[in-house]
Order: sequence, then structure tokens, then C-alpha cells
Amino acid sequence: KPVVLSGCQPSGQLSIGNYLGALRQWVQMQQTHDCKFMLVDLHAITVRQQPEQLREATLDGLALYLACGLDPEKSTLFVQSQVPEHAQLAWVLNCYTQMGELNRMTQFKDKSQRHANNINAGLFTYPALMAADILLYRADEVPVGDDQKQHLELSRNVAIRFNNLYGDVFKVPEPMIPKVGARIMSLQDPEKKMSKSDDNVNNFIGLLEDPKKVTKKIKRAVTDSEEPPRVAFDPAAKPGVSNLLSILSAATGEAISDIEPRYADKMYGHLKGDVAEAVVALLEPIQEKYHAIRNDRAYLDEVMRKGADKAREDAAQTLRAVYDAVGFVPYP
Ligand code: TYM
Repeated sequence: KPVVLSGCQPSGQLSIGNYLGALRQWVQMQQTHDCKFMLVDLHAITVRQQPEQLREATLDGLALYLACGLDPEKSTLFVQSQVPEHAQLAWVLNCYTQMGELNRMTQFKDKSQRHANNINAGLFTYPALMAADILLYRADEVPVGDDQKQHLELSRNVAIRFNNLYGDVFKVPEPMIPKVGARIMSLQDPEKKMSKSDDNVNNFIGLLEDPKKVTKKIKRAVTDSEEPPRVAFDPAAKPGVSNLLSILSAATGEAISDIEPRYADKMYGHLKGDVAEAVVALLEPIQEKYHAIRNDRAYLDEVMRKGADKAREDAAQTLRAVYDAVGFVPYP
């Protein structure tokens, strides 16, 4: 079976962006692939986190993975910091990643603007840790949203560079980006991506949000003032309306080209009502399962232990091969 690896940062509550751009695909891939899904807490601390909040968000994230349908019997579910090989390989890859290529990362530029008082070295070398995550498991495919494309490209380049020096140590991974939903935008500022760490709570919808609040946020989403109003998918000219169409399409599985004509003579409010209904229908079963799982700490511990143990078996093998390749003497 081809190997799949992906993860989310526990830097806040997972959003419908995370679900529609990534998690939704993960659940499907469990049937056909050897899947590894993690919560990347090492990545999360590149931005300052409250320790207690980070712990809670990590457990919340794991419970959400399970509630969304990730199955620990089928997939390896783990917490990144519990598998020390990630940090170990990241160090090595730091030494095979150029300052110049890290400097080109748009996410680094964005985040260093938003967190100007804490532009730490980890934020800069973030993509080398991400490359380590992927390469440790010799992943064939990495299902992510559009915003991770550039990081994936860097992972591929580092893998190719390393292999050119030392032989076939790494598998060169392929990104898997969904056709619809790969870039869910902020509700109030639809030219910006929806982010779980946004300061304005009206910009995103968390997977655990109350359905009434979800509906309210969608009804207040920014559209445009075209006269007469026109429901059409045109992200450049109509970012707000196009975002609502993407959300509806990704949530229902219906093609945008099939959805559009239904709103030919209708107002934006009509579209918003349907989007709200579809998102609530998506969230309700997830939320229903979530609470029981989140309250069962013994079960979560068992899932984490099993996942980390299984992940380590593969990760340790790759790390050893890397250490041999670069010339480290094995522990005698
Ligand atoms: P993170 O935590 O920002 O997001 C997790 C996943 O959700 C996708 N995503 C979105 N998709 C569509 N629309 C959005 N608005 C949206 N926001 C987020 C992301 O593309 C991602 O797939 N660096 C990664 C985590 C990571 C990782 C990895 C991923 C660390 N190591 C190895 C894959 C493989 C991140 O910050 O994702």
C-alpha cells in the first residue's frame, strides 16, 4: 500500500478549512493507503503558545481526528513530539536546507509579519521539520490544502538533494491537493485564507462551534455589491461569493458548476442559508461523537501510545539509514 502522511498544528481549534482542505481526504484514504496522521506540536511552538492550552488543543485535535472518522485500527495516529525521530531528522535536514530557499517561503514572510516580536529560528526552519515528518515514513503522498504546496516542494527538493549525495535514502513525496476546498477563505476577509489562529473569530468556523453561531457567522460573511447580485464562481472578482460556493461544494460533494445555476435568480441570502445548513449538517455528527471521545482520557492515551510506538518503528529505521549515510558512528 502506498504510504500517506499528513498533520495539523494544534495551535487552536481545527477549522472547516482544515477539514475541507485536508482531513476529509484523509478519512477516504484510510481504505486504500497506509496512513499516518499526526498533531504537530513541535511546529506549533514556532509561535508562542500557552503550555496548558497547547496540551488541551493537542488532545482536542486527537479527539477530533477520531470523531471525523480516522480509525486507529486502520491508521497510525500520533503526536509529533512523542516520536523523537522527528526532531532528530529535522536537525540533519537543517544542514541540507539552504537559507536562500527558506527565505522564499511565503508562510514565513506572512508569519514573521504577524509575529514581528518573535521571529525565531524555528519559525524560519519550520519547513525542514516538515520535510523530516514526511521523509521519515518514506511517504508517497501528502494530502494537504493549497497553502502547504510550497513547503511540499521544498521537502521534495531536500529529498532529491540528499539522495543525489548519498544514494536512494528518501522517497520523493507527491502532494495531493483536492480540486475543491483546497483554499477556504476567511469569512470577513475572503482574500485571506481561513486560519484557526485568526484574531477575529468571525473569520473562521471551528469544527466544535455551536450550530447557531456557525449559522450566524455564515449569514454575516462578506459578499459583494454587484448589481444585480450574481451567484457565480469567480474568485478574483467575487472572492466572498466564490468562497461560499467552494464551501458548499466541498461540504456536499456537489460540483460548483451544478450548484451555480440553481441560484440564477436568487439573492446572496439564499446561498448563505444553504451553506449554513450544509456546514451544520457536516459538523453535527462530528460534534456528537467528539464529546464522549474527548472525555475518555484512558482511550486517548491508548491511541497515542499505540500510534507513537508504531510510528517509531518506521521512523527509527529511516533515521538510522540517514545517520549511516552522513557518517555518524552507531552506538556500539
Ligand atoms: P495547518 O495546521 O495549518 O493545517 C492543516 C491542514 O489543513 C489545511 N488547511 C486548509 N485547507 C483549506 N483551506 C484552508 N483555509 C486551510 N487551512 C489549513 C492545510 O493545508 C493542512 O493540510 N505545516 C502544516 C502541518 C504539517 C504537515 C506536515 C502537513 C507539519 N508537518 C507534514 C503535511 C505533512 C500546517 O501548518 O498545517
